[in-house]
Formats: sequence, structure tokens, C-alpha cells
Amino acid sequence: MTQSNWSPQSWREKPAKQLPDYQDPLALKKTEEQLSKLPPLVFAGEARDLKRHLADVAHGRAFLLQGGDCAESFAEFGADKIRDTFRVLLQMAVVMTFAGSMPVVKMGRMAGQFAKPRSSDDETIDGVTLPSYRGDIINGFEFTEKSRKPDPARMIQSYYQSAATLNLLRAFAHGGYADLTRVHGWNLEFVKDSPLTDRYEELASEIDKSLSFMSACGISNKKTPELIRKTEFYTCHEALLLPYEESLTRIDSTTGEWYDCSAHFLWIGARTHQLDGAQIEFVRGIKNPIGLKCSPDLDPETLLRLIDTLNPDNEAGRLTLIARMGHDKVTDKLAPLVRAVKREGRHVVWSCDPMHGNTEKAGNGYKTRKFNNVMNEIKGFFEVHSAEGTHPGGIHLELTGQNVTECTGGAENIGDQDLSSRYHTHCDPRLNANQALELAFLVADELRNAYAHNRRAAQTPAAAE
Ligand code: PEP
Ligand code: CO
Repeated sequence: MTQSNWSPQSWREKPAKQLPDYQDPLALKKTEEQLSKLPPLVFAGEARDLKRHLADVAHGRAFLLQGGDCAESFAEFGADKIRDTFRVLLQMAVVMTFAGSMPVVKMGRMAGQFAKPRSSDDETIDGVTLPSYRGDIINGFEFTEKSRKPDPARMIQSYYQSAATLNLLRAFAHGGYADLTRVHGWNLEFVKDSPLTDRYEELASEIDKSLSFMSACGISNKKTPELIRKTEFYTCHEALLLPYEESLTRIDSTTGEWYDCSAHFLWIGARTHQLDGAQIEFVRGIKNPIGLKCSPDLDPETLLRLIDTLNPDNEAGRLTLIARMGHDKVTDKLAPLVRAVKREGRHVVWSCDPMHGNTEKAGNGYKTRKFNNVMNEIKGFFEVHSAEGTHPGGIHLELTGQNVTECTGGAENIGDQDLSSRYHTHCDPRLNANQALELAFLVADELRNAYAHNRRAAQTPAAAE
């Protein structure tokens, strides 16, 4: 059923934050008309499949891995980059599937993750003030008046880049590139070359043995290609630039319901989660699975009101709460939210974004994140869920498959002095491929502990019976 008083345009009646100031309304309107005639990028049925998988996460039967660029860019667009990010996500997923003994739902911050919220509308360099960069879908990164002017035509370019990205992702996911034995082979390479070989070798060889066992039982890429050679991969981005999202919102002919067909999953950012705001108004009416970033300033009562609005039917899989608290705040700030949601019986997926609460400026001016702080927030997230008896459902990361130097630390011990060497992000610092995999092995330890804990709890007879 469509939400009451909702239409794809109803957000226009609400106060909107973080939207660009397009100076040519006619050009904007023409672009919206053009976009609304273009084919959908994803199909409603796929979004429903994802929602079912996320319902499994909400019920504690699966884990969510969401990751990719902070901001995709026109300049960095290319097959190698898409392949490398896809590959590192698959590698991480294999390690986590094994450790958690549960399926991992894979979602890329890809094929549409262009629009960025900013803390300031303007940026001043050497006495010159220009509008802030808001992502390639809105304006250009270059610090000139021309480039920083919001241009609606960029939405069309983003659409086509997203279409091409999705096309390649679908080919990789279904065409044999994602073969489990091959992905495991890449992991063995990683473990062999890592400074922490000893630490990871045990887990990698256990996976090796399991794959040999499966193959001996007849589960192999030749005998059961559907199981071994293919994977399901979904796309997501922040629902920020509403003229773009509205134009790609379509009625699904099988159910008569509205879906935002720009991605399978859309989330609301920490700067736009006002109850009466335009972004909340928009996502409340679409039927895709959606996410809500939870920042340390969000109190339990407001969160419950947001859940009332975003998931009135308490449908498992509909809503993922993405906590981004910071390593030093996660225990204090997350626990009351988890407790309130559990007390009220709301079905949600709890996921941990350990990136956005841990951004800092290095001595040499680079925006960075420390690997240990990222990992500590994840550990804190698992601890809170263990204490509250809830499922630590997933992680949400900014990462790339390329060998960049944007976050410090990790086994290669990247220092502040290394940041300038390969600092390519247009927005926030990402984990590089090795840091991302190292993190996956560390998350595997957390998942194993959580899994062992759950098994013990299931085997212990209830005391009062
Ligand atoms: C993001 O995920 O890129 C982002 C801007 O996050 P947040 O809204 O949590 O700050
Ligand atoms: Co970011």
C-alpha cells in the first residue's frame, strides 16, 4: 500500500537540506523530464529480493557487507576500478561468510554514489570563496567558479555512468568472475604476501579444507555452477539529490507500488535525517529497502519516531540502522538506541559504519582515518550487541580495491608522511585493498566469537523452565 499523502514529488513541500542551488530552473526541469523517460537502472523485483535477504539479517541469520567509494567520480570511472572494488568486497565476504557461518549480503556503494552532503556551503582558499564541491553529479571538484557551479546536466552523465557500472557488475556477478574457488585463491595470495601471514593463515587454510570437502561431496564450479560460480550483488547510495531520485522513481507494474529505480537500496545521511525534512519524506514512500545513518546526536525517542515514519508496518528488511558514532562514543551512544529499539520490538538491521565518526586531520592537513580507530569502533559495536542480546548485523565501509594511501595504519603501517603518495579520494579517505582485507580477517574474529556465543546460548537450557 502506498503511504498516505505521499507522491514522488511530495518532498518538494518540505524543508530540504543539502540540495544545490541550481540557477537555471528551466534547465533543471528539462533534465528531470529527460531522466524520467530513461529506463530504470534496477528492477523492483531485485529490490524485493534484497529486502528478503535483509530480513534474514534482521532475524540474525545473515550478515551485511556494504562498501565502496565515499564519492564516485567521472574522472576515475573505468573497468579496472569497478572490478577491483567488486573483487575486494567478494574477498571480504568469503572470509566473513566462513567465520560467521552465515550468508553475507553484498552491497556496493557503487553505480550511483555521487552526491555528497557538506558541512559548509562554501569553501575559501587563499581569500577566494566558492560553493563547496557536492559530488560530480552536482558540480566539479576543480576550484574554479565555472566548475563549482551546480549543473543539472551532470545528472545525465551520472545516470549513464551508473548504467555502465551496473552492467559490468552484473556481468562479473553472473559471468564466472565471482567463482568462489577463484575468490578464495585471491585470498590465499593476500595472506601469503601480508606482513601478518601467520595471523591469517589458519583461517585461510580452514576455508581451503572446506572447499576441498565441498568439492569431494560434489559441490564444485563444474557440477553446481549456480552455487559456486555466481553471486548476488546489490547497489546502494545516499538518497540526497532528490530531483535525481524522484525522476528515477517508477511504479512497479506487478505490485502497483513505487520504487526508486536508481539503486536497490537508498540511505538517509546523518545531515538530512530530520523527521519533517525532504529526504525523510521522499524515502518513506518508496518500497526499496532503506538505511538511516545514526549519529551520536540522535536520541532514542527521535529514533523511534523516525522508525514509525520509515517502517510503519515493522517489516523486517525494510530498515537498516547504520550507526556511525566514533570509536570513543560507540559504547555510550549506541547502547541506548539498541535498547530502545529492542524494547519496542522493532525489526531492524543494525549495521556499523566505523568510518564517518573517525575522520580527522593529519598534521600535514590531509583528511584521514586511523585503521585502529576504525577497528575499535567495530569491536565496540560487537560488544554493545553482545551485551544487549541483539544481532550485530553488518558493516558499512568506505574502501577501494586500489592501492591508495588515504587511511593510516594497518599491517603496512601507512603513516601521515605517506598520505601524499597516493591520495586520490574526492571526498573522504578510504581503506585500500589490503587494509580492507585485513579488516575482514579481524571482523572474522568478532563474528566467530559472536557465533560461538550464540551457539552456547542456544545449547543452554532456559533456567526458569
Ligand atoms: C557517507 O556515508 O558518505 C556520509 C556522508 O555519511 P554520514 O551521512 O554518516 O556523514
Ligand atoms: Co564519506
